[in-house]
Order: sequence, then C-alpha cells, then structure tokens
Amino acid sequence: MISGKGITKTFKQRGSVLAGRTVQALRGVDFQIPKGGAASFIGESGCGKTTLGRIIAGLETYDTGEITIDGVSVTSPKDRLFRKVQMIHQDPYSALNPTRTIHQTLRAPLELRAKQTRRPKSWIDERAHEVLGLVGLDPASVIGRYPHQLSGGMRQRVVIARALTVDPEMLVADEATSMIDVSLRLGILALLKDLRERLGVSVLFITHDVATARYIGDDGELYVIYRGQVIERGSVDTIISDPVHPYTQSLLSAIPVLHGLEEPGPEPVVPTEALDAGHEDAGCLFARRCPFRTEECETGRPVLGLTEGVPQEHACFHPKSRDVVATHLGRV
Ligand SMILES: Nc1ncnc2c1ncn2[C@@H]1O[C@H](COP(=O)(O)OP(=O)(O)OP(=O)(O)O)[C@@H](O)[C@H]1O
Ligand SMILES: [Mg+2]
Repeated sequence: MISGKGITKTFKQRGSVLAGRTVQALRGVDFQIPKGGAASFIGESGCGKTTLGRIIAGLETYDTGEITIDGVSVTSPKDRLFRKVQMIHQDPYSALNPTRTIHQTLRAPLELRAKQTRRPKSWIDERAHEVLGLVGLDPASVIGRYPHQLSGGMRQRVVIARALTVDPEMLVADEATSMIDVSLRLGILALLKDLRERLGVSVLFITHDVATARYIGDDGELYVIYRGQVIERGSVDTIISDPVHPYTQSLLSAIPVLHGLEEPGPEPVVPTEALDAGHEDAGCLFARRCPFRTEECETGRPVLGLTEGVPQEHACFHPKSRDVVATHLGRV
C-alpha cells in the first residue's frame, strides 16, 4: 500500500515573464493505492498529475505532507523504499539508451539485483528472457537489438520489462501510450492490466484521456485533479456514469463516445476562461469557470469529502447530477 496525506508542492517559475512567481502545483493531496490496486489521475494540462506521479515515484521532493510505503514513512526521495515504485514515461525512445542493446539495457539492473539477492550469474540472463516474455516480446528476437530497431510499442514494452527487473510493487504510467502509434496503444494498456493481474503489481495511470482512465478496470479509483486539488474521487464506474463536480462533468462531456448523441443539457458549463496561474482565488478553485457558482463558492474553498446521498468524494458545494456542455474542447 502506498499512501500520501496532505501533499503540497510549490514551484518557482523560471523565464523572463514568469520569473519569481510561484505555482502551487499540489494543494494538499491525499491518496491511497492498495497493493495490486489501480488508480488513475486525470485532469487538464498543468493540473499537477506528473508532479504527483514523480513524488510518488521518489523523483521529486514535496513541501509538506507525508508519504508511506507499506506503513513506513518515507521522507527523502533517496529512500530505498521508492525503488518499489517504477515510472514509465511517455517517450519510450528517450527512456532507452540508443547505444545499448536490449540485453545490455536489462543486464545492468539485473546484475545489481543478483548481487542484492545473492543469485548466481546464470540467473541474470534467465531473468532477462523472463521479463521480456512477461511483457509479450519474443526474447530471442529482440534481446540483441538496439532501440531504433524496434517499434514504439515494442520499445515501451522494453521500458516496462526494465521496470520489472527490480520487482516493483507499483508502476506509474505517465501518459505511457500518448507517443505510441494509436493502433498499438490498447496493447500497452492491456499489458499493464495483465501485469496487475498476473504479478499483483499496482498500476497508477496518469492521463488526460477519460477513455484511458476507464480502461483501468472496475475496481480502479479515479482521481480528478483541478489546479493541484483532487476535486472528485471514487470508483471509475461511479464517476464516469454520474459525475457530480461541474469540472468532471465538463471533462466527460468533451468525450463524445461517453455521451453519444444526447441532446445538450439545459445547464452549460463554460470552461473557456484562460486561467492566470498566478491568480489566487479565495474560494473554490473552479468558481471562475463555473456557471453554477454561488456566493458561497467565491468565499469558501470546498474540501474533498463525502456528503449525504453522493457515493463519491467531491470538493464542491453543489454536487449534483447534470448534463453539461463543454463549450471549449481544447486539451482536457
Ligand atoms: N520543474 C518545474 N519547475 C517549475 N514549474 C513546474 C515544474 N514542474 C511542473 N511545474 C508546474 O507545475 C504545474 C503542474 O505541472 P505538471 O507537469 O505536474 O502538470 P500535468 O498535469 O502533468 O500536465 P500535462 O498534462 O501537461 O503533463 C504546472 O503549472 C507546471 O508549469
Ligand atoms: Mg504531465
């Protein structure tokens, strides 16, 4: 089980225009990902998904809060426990050293693993073949090749195989299919799902695509993130079939496959305002984009929690089933 409580992270912006300004990338995020479980972080560009994923993988520091891995508090990204979490990035080409064969790529971490676990040298190559088999590659045909001799989908499988060399407890897949040919994406998602079932490894999907989030499985939890705050959280099915936060509703309405040819509802959400990252709102972070806001929303900040009659956690003063129309269909 990997969990976090009250994680905050602020970045100082660089660049001539933004220099000196700060961005609150995460504003007190809680999460729990059980052993063998699945979760998905979803939200528009810049909402903090990668930052949170990197913190969970021990690749980024955080300002306040606490992360525990199997009940043990981990304070520094250098902690050995973070090795249990392996990150799969979106670009499998840059993740692999182009001058190394697949064999060399897998050998390095396996040699270390053999030493740590006092295994004989012969185990290293056996295990290299085994992890390639686990990710659906034919070991004999790929092991001597270089990354450029493989397709994007195969490269991403090699990256996943390399992550498996350390026997991880969790894989963090950050937009892991976005740079892969569309026809191969489903295969990678199916592989992650399969590894979860076969090896009991938990999987965290980071995506801005609802269809990908949906793929994590019936028991998966969805975290909808808006400007560094989790604004809705619950089972994938519950949230996709009946979101109660206007932001989630606008995200889902931008995916035609989910709403089909339904007539637009009477209450449109208009999330068109380009948000100034430096502007701090006193109340709800979504209020400026929300047509349902009331005075309460402008002065008080809703916190994530349950209210009567609503099955999922939400951070909204007016949670309600609604059909909405997103009038801005930019990247969600
Ligand atoms: N190293 C950094 N230095 C300064 N600002 C950063 C840094 N990393 C992230 N940020 C800022 O923190 C916020 C959250 O960024 P993050 O990359 O986590 O978003 P994201 O949800 O992953 O977006 P995307 O969907 O585009 O990948 C953004 O405003 C971003 O500009
Ligand atoms: Mg990102």
